[in-house]
Amino acid sequence: MHLDVIGDRTLVPVHGGRTRPYVNLDCAASTPPSVRVAAAVEEFLPWYSSIHRGAGAKSRYSSERYEQARDTMLRFVGADPATHAVLFPRNTTEAMNLLAFRLDLDRDDVVVTTVAEHHSNLLPWRRHAQVRYVDVADDGTFTVEQVVAVLDQQPAPRVLAITGASNVTGWLPPIAAIASAARARGVLVVVDAAQLAPHRPISMTEMGIDVLALSGHKMHAPYGAGALVGPQAVFRTGEPMLVGGGAVTSVGLDEVLWAAGPDRDEAGSPNVIGVVALDAAVRELSQRGWAGTLRHERQLLDELDRQLAGVPGLVRYGPLGGADRLPVAAFNLEGVPHALVASRLSHEFGIGVRSGCFCAHPYLERLLGLDEEQTQQYRDQVRQGQHRLLPGAVRASTGPGTPLEHLAELGHALRHIAATPERARGYDLTDSGEYLPADDTHALLSA
Ligand SMILES: Cc1ncc(COP(=O)(O)O)c(C=O)c1O
Repeated sequence: MHLDVIGDRTLVPVHGGRTRPYVNLDCAASTPPSVRVAAAVEEFLPWYSSIHRGAGAKSRYSSERYEQARDTMLRFVGADPATHAVLFPRNTTEAMNLLAFRLDLDRDDVVVTTVAEHHSNLLPWRRHAQVRYVDVADDGTFTVEQVVAVLDQQPAPRVLAITGASNVTGWLPPIAAIASAARARGVLVVVDAAQLAPHRPISMTEMGIDVLALSGHKMHAPYGAGALVGPQAVFRTGEPMLVGGGAVTSVGLDEVLWAAGPDRDEAGSPNVIGVVALDAAVRELSQRGWAGTLRHERQLLDELDRQLAGVPGLVRYGPLGGADRLPVAAFNLEGVPHALVASRLSHEFGIGVRSGCFCAHPYLERLLGLDEEQTQQYRDQVRQGQHRLLPGAVRASTGPGTPLEHLAELGHALRHIAATPERARGYDLTDSGEYLPADDTHALLSA
């Protein structure tokens, strides 16, 4: 059974002035609030107040809810409360930036990461250390042995930063085996769980994960809070990334005493509502029980594979068959630009997907098989500010809130698009690389 989400029957405008119930197949980007998360926020609102320093009853209540959420999160990700702390950054991106800053890396330190990463788990490391990459095979996967080979190169790395699940292909690297190899070498294991956390149960302790980051908006709590869970020791000393109120115990004109963790790393007024929402989301995922969620995910994956296999000229990227995967698919329709497929799905069928490179450019270059010359060509094009017809793919992604029927609608729509290439003439390609219906007079905001 799928999770109840807000807005799952919203009518959206489609071509010709009609409306259709929205089919959301863009869950890897962001998810709507679940009914229970929205209700938890609604119930909390009358109690909302600034936390930590307020003496009023509402401040005390809000502070307690905020602090309690750290315990819920520790349980949700199976971390040890004796050793681990939870911070509430905005999202995974902020979490990774914060962590890379706080690990006190030297320019000579080595961080091992992989070509399959989202930019959020690549760029923060490049700013602070040397980065060494685990490459991917043509199907976008790597093996434990390949990771070990890169870990064993010299100089020895300090950190392994790896995704728990790909936002492009849905592939789940064998994290426990990889983490065990990294830990055996004294390497800190950091997992980007932005995609993993909404879909699979996690036990940091059992899987050997030292640090984990996730985003509430990808797990039905789109109120602006994420989580960074890591060893207390990492956050106990040193300067925080953001400085200001709340992160200090005392400030003189030439001296500052930083607060103990986790306050030290949460300067400024925290996002209490976001944290209440995130708390409700992880409680809901835990209380539903993973068995039902995993069963639903399996059905979604089988149906996604079945529907896409029935579309003539559809090329899929990433591993198929028995590989451990989330119900997420990246593909192209032969002869049809990815942005046009995405636009036709939206404007003719009310289906929301994403197209492009999904903030994982190096991974897409590998999956699409671009050679050095093609890669340089498209980068030159971007440097010149031209965004038309850039390489990329279409991504359909589902989540615990996706009904199975949505995938049948996707299959039907893609078969129709593949069979009616002449309809491309009804779309204009804009300078931003988007396709819009040539005669579309129905602005979304006035719909
Ligand atoms: C695997 C992965 N990591 C990191 C991120 C970044 O998440 P956020 O935009 O919430 O910071 C995303 C978002 O798509 C993702 O899919």
